[in-house]
Amino acid sequence: MQYNIIPNTDLKVSSIAIGTWAMGNDFWGNVDDKESIKAIHASLDAGINFIDTAPVYGAGHAEEVVAKAIKDRRDKVIVATKAGVIRTKTEYRRDLSPKHLQKDMEESLRRLNTDCIDLYYIHWPDTTTPLEDSINTLLKFKEQGKFRYLAVSNFSVELMEQAQQMTDIVCLQPNYSILNRKIEKDIIPYCEHNNLGVISYGTLAGGLLTGKFRELPEFEEGDNRGRFYDYYREDIWPNVQGLLVCLDKIAKKHDCTVAQTAIAWTAQQKGITSVLVGAKNERQALANAEAAKVQLSDSDCLQIDTYLKKHLQETVY
Ligand SMILES: NC(=O)c1ccc[n+]([C@@H]2O[C@H](COP(=O)([O-])OP(=O)(O)OC[C@H]3O[C@@H](n4cnc5c(N)ncnc54)[C@H](OP(=O)(O)O)[C@@H]3O)[C@@H](O)[C@H]2O)c1
Repeated sequence: MQYNIIPNTDLKVSSIAIGTWAMGNDFWGNVDDKESIKAIHASLDAGINFIDTAPVYGAGHAEEVVAKAIKDRRDKVIVATKAGVIRTKTEYRRDLSPKHLQKDMEESLRRLNTDCIDLYYIHWPDTTTPLEDSINTLLKFKEQGKFRYLAVSNFSVELMEQAQQMTDIVCLQPNYSILNRKIEKDIIPYCEHNNLGVISYGTLAGGLLTGKFRELPEFEEGDNRGRFYDYYREDIWPNVQGLLVCLDKIAKKHDCTVAQTAIAWTAQQKGITSVLVGAKNERQALANAEAAKVQLSDSDCLQIDTYLKKHLQETVY
């Protein structure tokens, strides 16, 4: 496993991190807590030291699962959680009001069974609350020792600029994968220029970049990944399949899986500090951590670029 420092912090995070959205067990089909805990343990045993969660993943459930999994090794794990989205029975609603932030902060500390969160993100922008009000509230929590470093997720360059005028943020968490490279245009250069870490999510495009879906899948009831990741569509499906064939060849050359190829590709890209990967069980978690051993060549990356530019330009860039 490689480790990278999030700039301007003492957080040395593994280049592959474990994401816990599916472990909330309310958006990705049926996920068993025992399997989730085994997945976290397998990740930690394989050298991953960075866990990403949020109050909104299963309305608090994922944070509780994380707490159970790390109860004997809290000091060895860098825990990141987020604030500002409410999970109701039917939707996700953004709320960065001071009142809601207070609730999120207290509940995350309680559920994670910790005195202090290592990295605390604003989860999504909320146009109904002035950013200044949210940041001032968060800075009070920081002064009180409730979290160590402030970060943002799903922010544009303009919003990061606004946030940086008010305080220090240390990293951004954007969507980034072989199938979504939009941040390469202005967001990655901004982060590099301003010395911000980039912790990317969506590495496997919700499982698609494992290569296991060779026909348009029909997900079980309660598995809504296709609503979040917009690649499970008939119009682009043949070209997505062509990409998987391209990845098959590269994976074969490296004697690894398509998932490991996709993870290695993301981790190798310019400006990336750590890549989040979701896993529902020990087998997936271990295989994903093993991707740290894969090093793609310039010619592998060029083959991927060439395919994307020719067949998936509008979807990816
Ligand atoms: N900040 C944000 O707004 C935001 C948004 C999304 C995600 N995130 C974070 O990023 C993390 C990762 O992204 P993600 O969970 O959306 O999805 P992802 O990593 O793109 O995909 C994860 C899913 O792929 C499948 N999978 C994983 N490893 C596999 C393997 N080796 N072989 C076969 N299938 C495998 C599993 O589902 P199946 O087995 O059911 O196929 C797993 O749940 C999240 O958990 C969360 O922490 C943050």
